[in-house]
Amino acid sequence: MKLTIAILPGDGIGPEIMKQGLAVLEAIAKKFNHEFIYNEAICGAHAIREVGDPFPEQTFKTCMKADAVLFAAVGDPQFDNDPTAKVRPEQGLLAMRKKLGLFANIRPVATFDCLLHKSPLKEELLRGADFIVIRELTGGMYFGEKYQDNNKAYDTDIYTRPEIERILKVAFEYAMKRNKHLTVVDKANVLASSRLWRQIAKEMEPLYPEVTTDYMFIDNAAMRVLTEPRYFDVIVTENTFGDILTDETSCITGSMGLQPSSSLGEHTPLFEPVHGSWPQAAGKNLANPIAQILSAAMLLEHFRLNREGKLIRQAVDASLEANIRTPEIQVEGGGNYGTTEVGQWIVDWINNQ
Ligand code: IPM
Ligand code: MN
Repeated sequence: MKLTIAILPGDGIGPEIMKQGLAVLEAIAKKFNHEFIYNEAICGAHAIREVGDPFPEQTFKTCMKADAVLFAAVGDPQFDNDPTAKVRPEQGLLAMRKKLGLFANIRPVATFDCLLHKSPLKEELLRGADFIVIRELTGGMYFGEKYQDNNKAYDTDIYTRPEIERILKVAFEYAMKRNKHLTVVDKANVLASSRLWRQIAKEMEPLYPEVTTDYMFIDNAAMRVLTEPRYFDVIVTENTFGDILTDETSCITGSMGLQPSSSLGEHTPLFEPVHGSWPQAAGKNLANPIAQILSAAMLLEHFRLNREGKLIRQAVDASLEANIRTPEIQVEGGGNYGTTEVGQWIVDWINNQ
């Protein structure tokens, strides 16, 4: 298969983990005779420094022309600590999501048996937990009308029927492909926007009679994902709730550095780690490349390259089993492996199959 992939390494640890993601893609291309064409583009803090825009027009064009986008992370303390900054790297991420119409963010939550002890949660609760969170990504408070002066500020949590219907459709369809259990997470006891979500979900339920649909308030869901993670199969929720919930669910996996995601919608699909740019670790060969590598696997699987995706997943499992791990998940007395060594080990493993 021939695929054109827009490469957006971004800031902080982004370029280092992207390098490993690309090395893995190249190993796969060689083994399976694919042709992947990579078009690199700038975004985030370094795009602000270079051209004054965190998601420049040129980058947008590169994304639109590609079959898929592989993204790493954006963010920089220089902007976080400056309340007067007019543009911030995160605005680039939001602009990218909006302009590419990426309304459905798929964040899988799975465990690795050999890492169960790394989670702060009890092993017996976690074993076998496997669900996905579908986060609406282009609506709600993130994009609703905002206002701020010295005495008053607000954000508007706005959703329209078509926005809700299209994300729920994605969620019902995922549930059909998985274990046919959908949990709609909202705050319908307080928020009007949530009540509309719930109303529309109930209207759609009869279209998917095989799916067991239930409803849960976000505060309860925030507790249940930790106390009973095996209960869930597919969760669907609005932008802000999904943002918070998926940081929380990363502790089920054991490290933020292991969680990939995909964002799908109207234009080019995008694949990225759930974690951020970890600026403190930039250039130190410390960051775990696995979330980026698994994002590449999700990219391939999106194009039905399932054998390729599976081989990457097997390589990642093998690296974890062999204790070839970055420091945050390394066992006591285990070897010292950085971003490059873990990535290279995974590439070698693939080459040897
Ligand atoms: C995420 C991030 C972003 C978000 C930030 C960086 C704007 O936390 O992708 O979850 O809030 O969506
Ligand atoms: Mn987040």
